[in-house]
Amino acid sequence: MTDTTSIKHQTPLTSGDFTAADEPFALFEAWLNEAIKSEPNDPNAMALATVDPDGLPDVRMVLMKGFDTEGFVFYSHIASQKGRELAANPKAALLFHWKSLRRQVRIRGNVTPVTDAEADAYFATRPKQAQIGAWASKQSQELESRFAFEQAIAKVAARHVIGDVPRPPGWSGWRITPSRIEFWHDRPFRLHDRIEFRRDAAGQPWSKTRMYP
Ligand SMILES: Cc1cc2nc3c(=O)[nH]c(=O)nc-3n(C[C@H](O)[C@H](O)[C@H](O)COP(=O)(O)O)c2cc1C
Repeated sequence: MTDTTSIKHQTPLTSGDFTAADEPFALFEAWLNEAIKSEPNDPNAMALATVDPDGLPDVRMVLMKGFDTEGFVFYSHIASQKGRELAANPKAALLFHWKSLRRQVRIRGNVTPVTDAEADAYFATRPKQAQIGAWASKQSQELESRFAFEQAIAKVAARHVIGDVPRPPGWSGWRITPSRIEFWHDRPFRLHDRIEFRRDAAGQPWSKTRMYP
């Protein structure tokens, strides 16, 4: 699992023609490494699209906290809107847009929960205030006032003045295992470059198609 905070800069795969890449993960890592250098903040921010039970799409930003050939991982509250939508329909699309590089990456695939061990390991790396916030927030439910949230935070903080904060049972992560990954790079006069990698299932070989922009 690649932790985005520890990715080392490497010779960009993209110094030449990125459309020559024959596999998407190394290309994604090279583009992310370039984004880490160029974006003003959150190069690992991605839009996460899900659908509700009526088939109506929903989208919001989340932070990608790791990726490898198994997929792209983010963390959130299980009872949140996104958590409920993923429980009912475990499929999602992701979108990275790196404005400074004029690039986007589109990802679609099936979603599975991460293991408890993975979620525990990531939760343990969060700052204590963020851990306390995860206990205090009933994400996506109505909040009567900011004060009510601050009171909830103070109560949790009082319980954990000393010692580690364990992971709340309602907080975990999900992995999107891609079946499609599309790389898009701006070119002059909107004559952009697009390549799409597809595979039938995880572990199967990727096929690559160049697309009209
Ligand atoms: C840049 C950015 C990163 C975010 N990262 C996360 C995240 O990693 N996890 C999360 O639960 N919410 C994150 N949020 C908040 C979500 O966009 C969203 O407001 C929240 O998760 C509730 O979404 P839901 O009601 O659809 O479940 C982030 C927001 C922004 C703008």
